[in-house]
Amino acid sequence: MSENTWNLKNKTALVTGATNGIGKVTALRLAAQGGRVVIVSRSVEKCSATVDEIRTQTGNPNVEWIAADLSTLAGVDEAAAEFRARHQELHVLVNNAGGFFAERIVTADGYEMTFALNHLNYFRLTQQLRDLLVSSAPARVVNVSSDAHYGGAMNFEDLMGAQKYSSWRAYSQSKLANVLFTYALARQLEGSGVTANALHPGFVASGFGRNNSGWMGMLMPLVQLFAIKPDKGAETSVFLATSPAVSRVSGKYFANSKEKESAAISYDQTTQDRLWAISEQLIQSAQHALPTEAAASSQA
Ligand SMILES: NC(=O)c1ccc[n+]([C@@H]2O[C@H](COP(=O)([O-])OP(=O)(O)OC[C@H]3O[C@@H](n4cnc5c(N)ncnc54)[C@H](OP(=O)(O)O)[C@@H]3O)[C@@H](O)[C@H]2O)c1
Repeated sequence: MSENTWNLKNKTALVTGATNGIGKVTALRLAAQGGRVVIVSRSVEKCSATVDEIRTQTGNPNVEWIAADLSTLAGVDEAAAEFRARHQELHVLVNNAGGFFAERIVTADGYEMTFALNHLNYFRLTQQLRDLLVSSAPARVVNVSSDAHYGGAMNFEDLMGAQKYSSWRAYSQSKLANVLFTYALARQLEGSGVTANALHPGFVASGFGRNNSGWMGMLMPLVQLFAIKPDKGAETSVFLATSPAVSRVSGKYFANSKEKESAAISYDQTTQDRLWAISEQLIQSAQHALPTEAAASSQA
């Protein structure tokens, strides 16, 4: 397909974390362009209401949901399995579901929540759907990171903050992991027709941070008075998912729909490969430790 003919009509997109904020607007915009859009978030009620809203607003009936907790590997696997049961093609995967956790939370797999939801979820979901992306090529992976990654460092000795937890460190590390993962993925996918790019959406007034109690939960609505609206915050995600201008661009970081240099460490292939290997090990260990159980529900 030439650069000028890429559009979403007759294409299938999957957007995670699409019941609120940036993901919801992203899904709506992709549906408005005529694509089949599948959203994934935790709550059956919120998924169902969001799909109704997007269908009504866009007039596109081809919008679906899968409810799954993407902070657990069983949840990610169930979401991927449900998607595969319904669809043979995937042209756009937007890994967007993420969060900020003021207190250290441990997931069902025994992993720290920020690392599990913000990184392992992106990594595992993409791996589980990778063959579909490749067989559907041209296709795109869009990973929602953050400029917070500039302040991040990969603490491989204590990735889960078990020795010392700082919410900011955990968040910026997870967003650096998004960029490292994107670049490693882009290298692996070279020549396949599947691109992988990461982005900063801007500082967006959304549900972000509001899940926390205490000072963080109280502060967020005030701080977000100075933030851009999700409509604007979704622009770079939509640009990377749909613009013909980036049909062949891969392994890059974007903000305001423009390519931008990411943190120096993000370009380090040894660090990229180290994170990749550790992510695979963590997935292996979780699978050995836990019985697989049905973790996703979906519309009939
Ligand atoms: N807002 C900002 O200023 C900002 C800045 C830079 C980067 N980002 C990034 O942008 C992305 C989206 O954030 P946002 O601001 O739009 O946040 P948001 O309004 O809080 O939306 C988060 C979405 O993720 C879903 N989600 C949360 N936990 C989940 C889980 N365990 N399993 C499945 N889905 C889950 C939520 O749905 P349910 O609650 O229904 O599950 C919701 O749809 C994140 O990756 C964030 O790091 C945001």
